[in-house]
Amino acid sequence: MKKILIANWKMCDKSALDALHFLKDLPNPQKKDVRIAAPFTLIREMAGNSLKIRIGGQNMHSFSEGAFTGEISARMLREAGADFVILGHSERRHLLGETNEFIQGKVERAVVEGLSFVLCVGETLEEKELEETFDVIENQLDSAFDGVLEDQLESCGALIAYEPVWAIGSGKSAEISEIMKVHEFIKKKYDLPVLYGGSVNLENFQKLLGSRSIDGVLVGGASLGAATFGQMIQLLPEG
Ligand code: PGA
Repeated sequence: MKKILIANWKMCDKSALDALHFLKDLPNPQKKDVRIAAPFTLIREMAGNSLKIRIGGQNMHSFSEGAFTGEISARMLREAGADFVILGHSERRHLLGETNEFIQGKVERAVVEGLSFVLCVGETLEEKELEETFDVIENQLDSAFDGVLEDQLESCGALIAYEPVWAIGSGKSAEISEIMKVHEFIKKKYDLPVLYGGSVNLENFQKLLGSRSIDGVLVGGASLGAATFGQMIQLLPEG
């Protein structure tokens, strides 16, 4: 299986011109699976780029339309040129109060719309210290996928990203042995690719992707510079 590299640009302060320059400075990924989850306002500009880097959103609502000020639907994302979306990122769960139930609605919507998605799961430091990691992850996965058939998940191109909350933006990535245990646990439950996210950088990139149970990485801070992200594209194993 091809390893997957996804940039999560979060609410980065890039103009449309910055984003186009960024793309221009990247090496051609050829047939590698490289994607960028961009802020909504950059999607249209970046989609359809000549490098064939897939452009996605970082969130969407579970309804297809309605009185939800400030929200965006799967179809609106599609219309802008996105072909995947991140769902359930911990910053939305913990800073913006997204519940497992809400995230389940989003998963269902993505499946109905046939929009590929990356479901993020992961424990907080407190949960880790209480040795609740596996329970938390199992609960997040089972709630999100409730009512959805595994075939449907596969056919819409669903991915799971294990992102321990304490590792995100902290400069302290989880140990490979810890990641492998969680990934193997997830893979036993769901036959989907499992990515790792949380302080991925150029130093740990190859080691992480060298592990058989890590199918790809979701990179935040280190994906914002074209030079570093370009090196990651070059180092990404072919298949
Ligand atoms: P980070 O973020 O690489 O900056 O830790 C990863 C993420 O939140 O997806």
